[in-house]
Amino acid sequence: MTEDSAKRYDTQVEVLFNGTANATRRQALPPLQEIFAGRDQRRLRLLDVGCGTGRFLDFVKQAWPRLPAGGLDMSEAYVRRSKHHLARWSRINLIVGDATRIPLPDGSQDAVTSIFVFHELPARGAPCRFFANSPGY
Ligand SMILES: C[S@@+](CC[C@H](N)C(=O)[O-])C[C@H]1O[C@@H](n2cnc3c(N)ncnc32)[C@H](O)[C@@H]1O
Repeated sequence: MTEDSAKRYDTQVEVLFNGTANATRRQALPPLQEIFAGRDQRRLRLLDVGCGTGRFLDFVKQAWPRLPAGGLDMSEAYVRRSKHHLARWSRINLIVGDATRIPLPDGSQDAVTSIFVFHELPARGAPCRFFANSPGY
């Protein structure tokens, strides 16, 4: 969770996944397309829980550049890194916060994603209801 760990994270994960981490993250894009198809992206809301350094949000914005997208992570260092990585995009809101107590109103998001995070959350009270607004989940 340190600045140093945030700096090394992307390379370490790609090595750990033998170069497939970004490809794995992109597998979450087709289900989003099912949710977003035919809808005005400017009026939708997506939240990426445990956004880390913002790699997945970058793929989301490449696909839907006008989509208002949020990222939440408990690590200040990782959120700082994601702000740097996503600086070229507008309509991005990155916040430090706890995935088990998301500081947003229920039902405020059209899609909620979470990549490589659930293994780090407490077993009890796992936040399955985060997906309540996402058809197909
Ligand atoms: C393995 S990383 C995955 C990061 C990113 N989703 C990705 O695709 O690389 C797990 C992330 O979840 C965050 N995290 C773990 N527990 C959390 C919690 N309770 N609330 C918010 N973020 C949390 C960590 O800070 C870390 O950035």
